[in-house]
Amino acid sequence: MLNKRKIKDVSSKILSPNKNITCILILKKGQLFYSVVKNDQEIIKKSQLGIEICGEGILGENLNLIREQKTFHDETIEMPWGEDRWIENKYNESSFFLAENTTLGRIMTLRIRVFDTGVAFRYEIPPQPKFRQISIKDELTEFNLSPSSTVWQIPAYQPDRYEYCYTKTKLGLLTGSVHTPLTIQTPDKTYLSIHEAALYNYGSMTLCLNNSILKSDITPLSDNTKAHVVLPFCTPWRLIMIADTAIDLTKNRLIYALNEPPTSDFSWVKTLKFIGIWWAMYVGEWSWAPGDKHGATTTHAKEYIDAAVKLGISGLLIEGWNDGWEGNWLENGINNKFTVPTSDFDFESVANYAKRRNVELVGHHETVGFVDNYEEQLEAAYNYYAVNGVRYIKTGYAGSKMTINGRQEFHHSQRGVNHYQKTVELAASKHICLNIHEPIKGTGLERTWPNLLAREGARGQEYEGGSLTPSHACFLPYTRLLSGGMDYTSGILDIKNTTKRVYTTISRQLAYYITIYSGMQMAADRPFMYLDRYPDLFEFIKCVPTNFEKTLPLSGEIGEYYLVARKDRDSANWYIGGITNEKSRQVDIVLDFLDDENYQAMIYFDKNDAHYKTNPDSYQIKHKKIKRGDTITIFIAPGGGFAIELQRL
Ligand code: NOJ
Ligand code: CA
Repeated sequence: MLNKRKIKDVSSKILSPNKNITCILILKKGQLFYSVVKNDQEIIKKSQLGIEICGEGILGENLNLIREQKTFHDETIEMPWGEDRWIENKYNESSFFLAENTTLGRIMTLRIRVFDTGVAFRYEIPPQPKFRQISIKDELTEFNLSPSSTVWQIPAYQPDRYEYCYTKTKLGLLTGSVHTPLTIQTPDKTYLSIHEAALYNYGSMTLCLNNSILKSDITPLSDNTKAHVVLPFCTPWRLIMIADTAIDLTKNRLIYALNEPPTSDFSWVKTLKFIGIWWAMYVGEWSWAPGDKHGATTTHAKEYIDAAVKLGISGLLIEGWNDGWEGNWLENGINNKFTVPTSDFDFESVANYAKRRNVELVGHHETVGFVDNYEEQLEAAYNYYAVNGVRYIKTGYAGSKMTINGRQEFHHSQRGVNHYQKTVELAASKHICLNIHEPIKGTGLERTWPNLLAREGARGQEYEGGSLTPSHACFLPYTRLLSGGMDYTSGILDIKNTTKRVYTTISRQLAYYITIYSGMQMAADRPFMYLDRYPDLFEFIKCVPTNFEKTLPLSGEIGEYYLVARKDRDSANWYIGGITNEKSRQVDIVLDFLDDENYQAMIYFDKNDAHYKTNPDSYQIKHKKIKRGDTITIFIAPGGGFAIELQRL
């Protein structure tokens, strides 16, 4: 069976529909490589491809091309909710059917799609004549970029998962593995983000340097393999988003284009704004655990339901309602009972009251990473909520590793990925929407599973109290948010609280509702801050939508500032938000994108003397009539931000 055919070299080009981007598939002496060229500039040099299988060697060598199949696809996807209703899915695709020229004679398909804004490819491994199951030892995919490229990274394999501050460094100086999306600026000033789409049943891709070349490093399982799979199997899409500017990169929606449409009806899914028995725990007024300061009591829950009604907010999150929070909850998660409320919390009575008052409860499951404990109760836990009319659940996986099948696994390993997916599918079967904290990163799955409404997966406002710099939220749109929305828990107006000081100006808390999208947006402070202390600022938090027709990133630079406009999905109104790092700036917003002529503008912004450290609550609100084509000039204080509502007249 050896040398059935002589190995032939191949070089095949796949062009983007607008012809600006080319991906070249190279087969050299039977080895598989690719490169990417943008406008005659090689942005990804010849990079290796392949998969190493435990005990079976590398799939990616001694290959012959059997056939190349080309297709062109042009479709506009309608998203049920999100930042944009319409998403372009237009690409040239080549599928390369490959076969090994060895006695093993294994076969594989490499599928490459080239879009106007990026390149994606994945490995597809069909059932082989000799075996149906494989364990993956390594994925050899490289992204061969200039070491002098700039990267903005967070480290992988760390105890706080994705909850780190971004660091800017040279690609050649990277140490250890880093998470994706990894944002990169090449020496010729092209912006890239390397990420993945449709992550199912496989370890999440991190990236590390291997002989100075950026290479995929799939999150391992505790047995040191990357994944155990049954054939046919395909890897997630390896995605390279490409743009000329940092702000253009934030327009990239290819993760959704690379996921499949839903297979059942999800018209029951609705985005949500919610308050919570939550920040009171962070500022030390209440506790998760039962006792004198217990937050989740029947009385507090009903008071918060009344507050939600008064505020005109649809949802209420209740954390600390169940057995298991006693003592150091971060260590005792094994005790969590997801169908047993604490003795001072009458769940049925609260659920009935919420129903009567038309408030959506957001249930809460903090697993502390004890997945075995959670999975044992999973069906019962979701039923418990479902039968009581709870249609939203926030889950949490605090803890540096997960306990799965009695073993310590990374959250982002194949077993972690499969657990998260199990919860999404179970929730969908019960018409429940999820907001996952300490999640697996976003890879566009919400296209297929629209009930996956929100996730955290970055350092959010729970880290306030001094460990969030103003630049942090200015990194997010260009990095983490390329993987989808984030529950940043915005709207903390008690910024000078001495227990948990929030280092932003107060107007910036409103800006976050525009600059950080989430299908479930929290008004995270205690209700009295909205009802009694700042009803004027709360007007914006109340009216800002959670579902947009379209999003227009306006301008910005990574870690410096970000300005964005979004049009409401359900009205003709527009919303504009902007934030800056430690530097104040004056920005001009040219309103040439508006659909109609005349609007009433409500502008919430920093006063000239505002400063995130020394004078955070100095704000002003201006109302004025504006028309399409006008320019609004706004001052943003150090660590500040602004929010604008434009109501069509
Ligand atoms: C971490 C989550 O991010 C936070 O929102 C939650 O309150 C705590 N875990 C407790 O579950
Ligand atoms: Ca968290």
